[in-house]
Amino acid sequence: MKQIAPSILSADFSKLGDEVKAVTEAGADLIHVDIMDGHFVPNLTIGPDVVRAIRRVATIPLDCHLMIEKPEKYISLFAEAGADMISVHAEACPNLGLVAEKIRALGKKAGVAVNPDTPVETIIPLLSKIDYLLIMTVYPGFAGQKFLEAGIPKVAALKKIRDEKKLSFLIEVDGGIKPETAGAISKAGADIFVAGSAIFGAKGYQQAIQALQKAILI
Ligand code: DX5
Ligand code: ZN
Repeated sequence: MKQIAPSILSADFSKLGDEVKAVTEAGADLIHVDIMDGHFVPNLTIGPDVVRAIRRVATIPLDCHLMIEKPEKYISLFAEAGADMISVHAEACPNLGLVAEKIRALGKKAGVAVNPDTPVETIIPLLSKIDYLLIMTVYPGFAGQKFLEAGIPKVAALKKIRDEKKLSFLIEVDGGIKPETAGAISKAGADIFVAGSAIFGAKGYQQAIQALQKAILI
């Protein structure tokens, strides 16, 4: 089952709870929460207190994408705040295996995120120990950027490895996902589609989610 994950980075922060409810009613499968620290990426966003507040109103899983340095220091905070899925960036984390283990030990789904310039080869030994791999299709930091086509062969290569090794990790794609770009990367093997501006920038959330659902059908 392919899943749509609206990224609240493009939501109206003055009414975040209502925005979360609205996209959930419109058919979202997950809520994607972008955590940025101003160091790993130039932008600063939110921390565990906001995740805790969203958790109170959300009825679907919270997918927390940690774009922060030293993510291992903050994992338990986000887990306690109510994250259901936690991804950490390969570039920010020398001990990815240990961090993934820690996320799972907290009862959460463990993800590894990779930037457009990071080759996935280094992650291959970890693929049996994580629940999902997040392939960035823009440079992390901001919503509304152009989709980078180079993500498509990366996803296809990972799907091939998953099939050959009979692994079960999911492939998430994030950045520039809209009806026009989602089809090809879905065919390549992506399972979870993060979309910020394509959903929150649209007039009708339901129409926007349905357009994405239609595009990712293969
Ligand atoms: C970028 C974030 C994305 C972003 C996606 O650093 O990780 O989740 O919000 O926004 P769009 O869909 O507008 O590219
Ligand atoms: Zn993200």
